Amino acid sequence: MHIVHITVEMAPIAKVGGLGDVVTSLSRAVQDLNHHVDVILPKYDCLNLSNVKEFQYKRSYSWGGTEIKVWFGEVEGVSVYFLEPQNGLFYAGCIYGCKNDAERFGFFCHAALEYLLQSGSHPDIIHCHDWSSAPVAWLYKDHYMHYGLSKARIVFTIHNLEFGAPFIGKAVAYSDKSTTVSHTYSKEIAGNPAVAPHLYKFHGIINGIDQDIWDPYNDGFLPIPYTSENVVEGKQAAKEALQQRLGLKTADLPVVGIISRLTQQKGIHLIKHAIRRTLERNGQVVLLGSAPDPRIQNEFVNLANQLHSSHGDRARLCLTYDEPLSHLIYAGADFILVPSIFEPCGLTQLVAMRYGSIPVVRKTGGLYDTVFDVDHDKERAEAQGLEPNGFSFDGADAAGVDYALNRAISAWYDGRDWFNSLCKTVMEQDWSWNRPALDYMELYHAARK
Ligand code: ADP
Ligand code: GLC
Repeated sequence: MHIVHITVEMAPIAKVGGLGDVVTSLSRAVQDLNHHVDVILPKYDCLNLSNVKEFQYKRSYSWGGTEIKVWFGEVEGVSVYFLEPQNGLFYAGCIYGCKNDAERFGFFCHAALEYLLQSGSHPDIIHCHDWSSAPVAWLYKDHYMHYGLSKARIVFTIHNLEFGAPFIGKAVAYSDKSTTVSHTYSKEIAGNPAVAPHLYKFHGIINGIDQDIWDPYNDGFLPIPYTSENVVEGKQAAKEALQQRLGLKTADLPVVGIISRLTQQKGIHLIKHAIRRTLERNGQVVLLGSAPDPRIQNEFVNLANQLHSSHGDRARLCLTYDEPLSHLIYAGADFILVPSIFEPCGLTQLVAMRYGSIPVVRKTGGLYDTVFDVDHDKERAEAQGLEPNGFSFDGADAAGVDYALNRAISAWYDGRDWFNSLCKTVMEQDWSWNRPALDYMELYHAARK
């Protein structure tokens, strides 16, 4: 089958959040099942081209009153076509954040379909994502389906309903199949007017992570490679490297890591509370995150400064985007905290487990589907063929976070053998794309019936 993703994010060259990870890793997983996958992406001026192989100019075409140059390259083994309209729409120094984002991405969606048409491509599936490539669904059904691209079916994935609900509802309506990124989130949003009329074609498929991209045995950002066999030694070395790099006290303390966009979705007030609680419990805390909203960014800058003077040896807030540091935190932390108010899937808890860190999460969306509390979810885990793998809480107040975090930190202090075996257990769980990629293939086939 030939699948084309039309998307505005792709890891690692144009990544803002998990959408970028999913496009790359789902494409790779589907390719591994012997299907043909292409990605069409805007050629931003801020692309990280050092991660593009065989980068070359292909051709140009005219559309929308401008010339559009088409470039080609391989990203993590996936073929990518980069569209560069000469009207400068993607020379903005960023992916999102322009006043005219809807216009920029609307233009891109149109240009991408036009490219498929003009290049004589006949994909079986066109897969678009979130509000930013939602227009593909109706542009295809209203126009391009009648002009030669007729073979394709449209699959639309909601990664986050919060962004651009009106676009999303229209795309769900026009798509042949729609998905969202976990079963529980699909239930949580089933009553939303964007989705409710279309439940018959709406499915929850959990995201996976790419186990080759996230692999503590083969990760240049870690001091020593490790697997579940030497997880204690591997994580100890990573913890020391992390402490040294951030100027924290090099000591055997429980380390709580947080790697997140800092938006209300991610439970800002719960993150702040957890930082204080961890320090009270004599732990160390490392936060890596950045806030698109300058007010929230400022709040965290102030907090970082305060903590630097009051707890400089045990707290570090890195308010930036830093891929290499994220790897060291996933490996060096004992816990990764994800207290999201809502979370369609969430990838950080999955990467955490791959690196032998224990997730501490709020029970919502994909966090509920992937994290099984050691004290409460044995049966629910067993039903999935799994052992419990973390700590979780309900509610959205400080007491909830305390309930999970206190148990987690106590387990670290009071039962190191048990804790170490838990690290080994989570590392051995399979959160790859193996299963979800098959679910997507089934869905693609169903879309073609
Ligand atoms: P979302 O897409 O809502 O931001 P996900 O959990 O699906 O949340 O994906 C977040 C992705 O972005 C993960 O790969 C995570 O490691 C990465 N990430 C988030 N913040 C940062 C940061 N400040 N620096 C590096 N990577 C980050
Ligand atoms: C969104 C969601 C996140 C999900 C990601 C990838 O950004 O917030 O929960 O993991 O998309 O699907």
